[in-house]
Amino acid sequence: MSSRHDIIQFVLNDRVVTVDFNANPELKPTTTVLNYLRSFPFHKGVKEGCAEGDCGACSVVIAENHGGKLTYKTIDSCLVFLPMIHGKQLITVENLADSGKLHPVQQEMVNQNGSQCGYCTPGVVMSLFGLYKNHHKPERGVIEDALTGNLCRCTGYQSIIKAAEHACSCVDADKFQLHEVKIASLLDEINRDKSAVEINTPTQNYYKPLTLEDALAMRRRHPHATIVGGASDTALRQTKKRELLAEILDISDVAELQYFVEDEKVFKIGAGLNLEQLKSNSIEKLPALNKMLQVFGSLQIRNLATIGGNIGSASPIGDTLPLLIAYKAYIKLQSPDSERVVRLDNFIRGYRLTDLHYDELITAVYIPKLPDNTIVHSYKVSKRKDLDISTVSGGFSLQLEDGLVKEIILAFGGMADQPKQASETERYLTSKPWTRANVEHAMKILVHEFTPLSDARSGEEYRKLVAGNLLLKFYAETSTSGL
Ligand SMILES: Cc1cc2nc3c(=O)[nH]c(=O)nc-3n(C[C@H](O)[C@H](O)[C@H](O)COP(=O)(O)OP(=O)(O)OC[C@H]3O[C@@H](n4cnc5c(N)ncnc54)[C@H](O)[C@@H]3O)c2cc1C
Ligand code: FES
Ligand code: FES
Repeated sequence: MSSRHDIIQFVLNDRVVTVDFNANPELKPTTTVLNYLRSFPFHKGVKEGCAEGDCGACSVVIAENHGGKLTYKTIDSCLVFLPMIHGKQLITVENLADSGKLHPVQQEMVNQNGSQCGYCTPGVVMSLFGLYKNHHKPERGVIEDALTGNLCRCTGYQSIIKAAEHACSCVDADKFQLHEVKIASLLDEINRDKSAVEINTPTQNYYKPLTLEDALAMRRRHPHATIVGGASDTALRQTKKRELLAEILDISDVAELQYFVEDEKVFKIGAGLNLEQLKSNSIEKLPALNKMLQVFGSLQIRNLATIGGNIGSASPIGDTLPLLIAYKAYIKLQSPDSERVVRLDNFIRGYRLTDLHYDELITAVYIPKLPDNTIVHSYKVSKRKDLDISTVSGGFSLQLEDGLVKEIILAFGGMADQPKQASETERYLTSKPWTRANVEHAMKILVHEFTPLSDARSGEEYRKLVAGNLLLKFYAETSTSGL
């Protein structure tokens, strides 16, 4: 395995920037893109509001080259370690205007009075720019989704939404379209070298493989390194808990882990696929998953967060987990010389604890295609609809035959120290008619199956009540489905 040492390259302001961590000891490999930008006098547009992915004031857009075509995604720069943008174009608010002429999204923010105090404005503008590059004449829901990750407390969103509607109706080519070929070739030049990036500083070692083979080799060689998929969980350990991440294995650019394919029996999802890509792929194929992803974080978070990261975090409130259990998903674990496939429910062993071996990576998630008479639903209850983590979540599947429950899976998040099935309730309901009376009796069993925590998000009693009500809701939604 060949490596390039201590150097990363990316495009900023249409020019290739080379960062040599050896020559710049003030930069750590885990310096965030936000802090890197703000270290320059001419990049103060990007703001720190929360440093934890909640406010969007730090939003920037990243462009990636896919066969000569650039794709654009808005991300929170406070969650992104500098080496994660190696081989990409970093676009900031300072970069949008063309020789003094405002970009359409900036001009419309002016025209529609979309800014007051202005603290949120650069981030809002970058989200509008990401929207502009991905959608022409977007529907209101798409605009709202693009702005979910940007908090504005002064202006109110109506004028910002109007700015989005006007700007995204524009048909003229912007400067990014005019420069696409040039930027793509600059990125091509950087990305031609597929050797891993290795950054060694006196306090930190950062490994960034670009192929699966290198990723697995590095995993074995550095078993204690923190694995980074999208960093949307990991970055907080540094920004909020002030932890020094001494060793990092960053697999965010292993293209072989970013796919969604299917055969007759199963959907196969690369562990490195980000949740926004998964959301697009799941619209018709896995609607319950799509519904859950609609209320997962914000667009900026979903553009970073990977499905492998949500599973690997093994959080009791990881939103995809109950649902993947309901889908009977299994995951592929690979080491340099072996691979195994395990059921997700067997893989999660406790509070943020998994059965991952020291030399393994999660490389794929397999979701079997369930029989036609099976229905799967997902639920998320949180204090806010958007950009909030679950108080209680549910992934339920039901197979009915002749009006009787042939199989039911009721998996909950937020009810125990790990995502957990209500096994007794499932046993009670199995082989019985799917009736309200039986479901109401099952709710009483369900309440005794869990002893959830009381915490800042809710009390134990509330969680139990919600869990029971979700079961009742599931009944209400499925009893008229004609199954
Ligand atoms: C503002 C904000 C909002 C959020 N909203 C939600 C939400 O609505 N619902 C929700 O469930 N979560 C939410 N999260 C948490 C987080 O975004 C998710 O858990 C996300 O899926 C993590 O993915 P990642 O790729 O960014 O993980 P990373 O931070 O990169 O990795 C997390 C951990 O997973 C493990 N890991 C990652 N990839 C692999 C792999 N391939 N093999 C083995 N182990 C691996 C590692 O142990 C790693 O330390 C939110 C986070 C933020 C900051
Ligand atoms: S600073 Fe708030 S999302 Fe990054
Ligand atoms: S303009 Fe002040 S927070 Fe948005």
